[in-house]
Amino acid sequence: MRTSVDEIAEGVYRISTFVPEIAPPAGFTFNQFLIAAEQVRRAVRNINTPHVPHNWEARVLFEEHTRTLFCGDLFTQLGDGPAVTEEDLVEAALESEQLFRQTSCLTAAVATLRSLAALEPRTLAVMHGSSFRGDGAAALRAMADGLEQRFGPEADFVAVPSVLAGPHP
Ligand SMILES: [Fe+2]
Repeated sequence: MRTSVDEIAEGVYRISTFVPEIAPPAGFTFNQFLIAAEQVRRAVRNINTPHVPHNWEARVLFEEHTRTLFCGDLFTQLGDGPAVTEEDLVEAALESEQLFRQTSCLTAAVATLRSLAALEPRTLAVMHGSSFRGDGAAALRAMADGLEQRFGPEADFVAVPSVLAGPHP
């Protein structure tokens, strides 16, 4: 297990611990974020996203100076990629969804992702995996489309089990 610190946007630091034993062989990162606010005034907006990706009390945060969207478990990916990338993360996030089935409700997820696109984030700060720098609105819409195309309709979405669920008697 090791921890690294990287600046993913101006004054936004990602503190990442890679745990190879989780979801081997790829492993899994646990990321925390620190916003430096000594020199630049920061405004962080709380946006409730009930049930997206999971839990009624789910939320994301939006830091306005750098237009960074702290996504929580949205865009979760396996492995220990770069701290921040300009490459498309959607396919890797859909692969992770296929494995973990972490998203609670397809309809809510798709609608919420599309509404978050209105923020036009420049960085998506992701709790598990690489963060994304670029057209965040396009990435959010592409993730919504990908969820819908791969897992829709809702009845099929509910029927696909998680690797974590294990066999039921
Ligand atoms: Fe998480």
